[in-house]
Amino acid sequence: MKTIVIHSIHKGEGKTKVAKELAGYLQLQGNNVLLADLDFITDSHRRALGLPSSPNLEDMLKDIDAQANHKPYFDIKFSAEEMDNYLLTHSSGIRVLSSENAQYLSEDEHIAQKLRTVVRNLKSLSFDVLIVDTDSTERDYNQAIFNEADQVLIVMDNFRYNVKDVKIFIHKMQQMDFSTQNFKIIFNKVPSPVQVTTEDIEKDTGLQVIGIVPVLDRPCQPSSGTEDICLNVADPKNVDFITAIKEVVDGLI
Ligand SMILES: Nc1ncnc2c1ncn2[C@@H]1O[C@H](COP(=O)(O)OP(=O)(O)OP(=O)(O)O)[C@@H](O)[C@H]1O
Ligand SMILES: [Mg+2]
Repeated sequence: MKTIVIHSIHKGEGKTKVAKELAGYLQLQGNNVLLADLDFITDSHRRALGLPSSPNLEDMLKDIDAQANHKPYFDIKFSAEEMDNYLLTHSSGIRVLSSENAQYLSEDEHIAQKLRTVVRNLKSLSFDVLIVDTDSTERDYNQAIFNEADQVLIVMDNFRYNVKDVKIFIHKMQQMDFSTQNFKIIFNKVPSPVQVTTEDIEKDTGLQVIGIVPVLDRPCQPSSGTEDICLNVADPKNVDFITAIKEVVDGLI
């Protein structure tokens, strides 16, 4: 299974949107997709796929806690049947490990190891693709998640200050001897004309830009209380948006 982690330097750049739409596109193309929401910082209504809020990441973390009393984290392994208890099923067929707002988890001194254990167990399942949504903090638990990824996609808009911040972020990671070789960039919510060119940012960051996702002109309308209850890639009217997501997928292969 291929593991793709979605991250951004600032909040609100479109990680969740990209993660869901990428998962939706791949699922509609006939892949078995697992989408994991490992963001326990952001308000959950901002990321709901129109699914119930339980079971979720916290349930799995509680069971990891129980096992950690008598074995090391790397030895904590759940069977496919056990993992099934933590997963929801979206109407598109995407299986989802959901997450609720649970900021207290960021105070847990073992959270990095626990999240790594979560991702390792998700990776052990037989899906074609695992897509992981993250929060935008610079915490070590996100680095633990990057470590489990085949590819890390940095979602950003292309305003000048963002380009500078991505450059600083990549530089810091490299100074810590963290390999950013499998990191790639997606421009999201890009208006025209583009503020910073692809060539400029590739030169500045050393990362490849694999897609430019436009602002959705006709996003699906959520029904009650939840946002993004539907997948925009499933609406053939969103021609430019679907083309952009396809380009991202092509850039991942
Ligand atoms: N391409 C797009 N076209 C239109 N709206 C978009 C697009 N990408 C994201 N948005 C909207 O921008 C807002 C922020 O996006 P999203 O929640 O995906 O960002 P995020 O990086 O996950 O934020 P957070 O850091 O809070 O988790 C949402 O309202 C989302 O619907
Ligand atoms: Mg998000």
